[in-house]
Amino acid sequence: MSGQWQVVERIAQDESDISLRHLFASDPARGQKFSLSCNDIFFDFSKQILSVSGLDALVALAHEAGVQEHFAGMMNGAELNVTEHRPVGHMHLRSQGDSSMAAAAKEQTERAIELAEAIRAGRIVGFSGHAFRAIVSIGIGGSDLGNVVVADALEAWCNGPACYFVSSIDPTHLDNVLTRNNLSPEFTLFVVASKTFTTSETLHIASRAREWITSALGAEAVSHHFVATTAAPKVAAKWGISNDHILEFFDWVGGRFSVSSVIGFPAIVSCGGEVFRQFLRGMAATDEYVQTTPLAQNAPVIHALLGVWNASMRHSSSLAVIPYSHGLRHFPAFLQQLLTESNGKSVTVDGHGVTYATSPTVWGEPGPAAQHSFFQMLHQGTNKISTDFIAVRRTSNNDESGQQILFASMLAQSAALAFGKTEQEVRADGVPESLVPHRTFVGNKPSTCIVMPVLNAFTLGQLIAFYEHSAAVQGWIWNINSFDQWGVELGKALTAQIEPILTGKQSIDTDSSTAMLADWYRQQD
Ligand code: F6P
Repeated sequence: MSGQWQVVERIAQDESDISLRHLFASDPARGQKFSLSCNDIFFDFSKQILSVSGLDALVALAHEAGVQEHFAGMMNGAELNVTEHRPVGHMHLRSQGDSSMAAAAKEQTERAIELAEAIRAGRIVGFSGHAFRAIVSIGIGGSDLGNVVVADALEAWCNGPACYFVSSIDPTHLDNVLTRNNLSPEFTLFVVASKTFTTSETLHIASRAREWITSALGAEAVSHHFVATTAAPKVAAKWGISNDHILEFFDWVGGRFSVSSVIGFPAIVSCGGEVFRQFLRGMAATDEYVQTTPLAQNAPVIHALLGVWNASMRHSSSLAVIPYSHGLRHFPAFLQQLLTESNGKSVTVDGHGVTYATSPTVWGEPGPAAQHSFFQMLHQGTNKISTDFIAVRRTSNNDESGQQILFASMLAQSAALAFGKTEQEVRADGVPESLVPHRTFVGNKPSTCIVMPVLNAFTLGQLIAFYEHSAAVQGWIWNINSFDQWGVELGKALTAQIEPILTGKQSIDTDSSTAMLADWYRQQD
């Protein structure tokens, strides 16, 4: 790696035993110095184990990696996704600029809003003339996770048909959604969300949904009851979706970066076009910020640098994402795909093996439940874990005391992780000596707090774009391609080979474990 990488590495080594207690004691203004605003997002990274010189060195590393030039490249349509020979265009999905990419995206967003508004107003109805009451979105990965977050977060704005999501090929998922919600074919619109329209799980579920419609309403109903959101319109048309129900996005939008494309159609139907426009404005606000703010004060860039610092320099292979907001309950799953599918790579853009750790494992659950579960491990376990806490000041209800407990819990957990409780402090509480080791908290566990005044379409857009940019910046610093996902292909190919042996139609020469388990499967029939 470059000279600046080595400078950062040296600082990490020299300061490896630095403590948060010491960092805070030696600088009473640390909180103010290690925090930034990014439009409505307030980002406090003071409880990361990092000195001023470490931070300065990381910012220099971002300069050296050409972060600003890469953002410019995204806007210029440069082929940043080198292994798939594609530009990386998700900022164009919400840009007001006059590029051809922005124009193409705008046209499709307007089509999606027009179609959604017609459905909401009952101008477009089901085959038997009934207005749609439910939208069932069928998709997986990037064609599902962002939509789920948007639907949860904007629940209070949902005044149209209810939205349901089916992502698992386990038939139980579709069946439960249809039966437990008493959905009827006459009133149900399916959205098949798939960038490629080749994902086997999605197509299998969609075929079962098509059978459900055709067996109740006949084959002609399919064109009325299905919409596709896809970058493969011809394949969707061949599958049976009518052209005026095919909403397009583009091969220059990665699946996990597609939430601001027409993939967001279910939310538009549920909440209306204006709410979705607000969401896009929020994302555009972060886009503008990230491109115009000096790197040293640029919150998503600093967030990315902290990820590099923790994973590559401090050898922490785990990032816990803990939302203290019910509306963000599925945000950890969304971030898991965004960050790990983007940066779980071990070769550089030019194909050489990396010599440093890249993406940590990203995981998490909402704070209130997590505190009564794996927080034991966060506080007293042996793994090196960094935590992103995310919280909101106001929710749509008026339970101020509940909100206070929620926010206080996040502050308490973050402080407990950082500062712990020494043996002396435990003894001072009168704890029996035999229990002192059990009641001690070593502390010095890094965390970041990301807080917003309110959760609405505008701030949610800002938050999602914040993390999209953090993922991209990390990739540029690690010199890996954050925009491909070849690592998912081998498993897909093997599934296609193994599936026929489960039905006994074919035998293949395979390893003894796979053969044994395939035998076991057949014997259960
Ligand atoms: O298998 C991984 C993946 O390609 C993700 O990158 C993507 O978000 C997901 O599958 C779904 O793909 P598609 O939208 O093409 O169905």
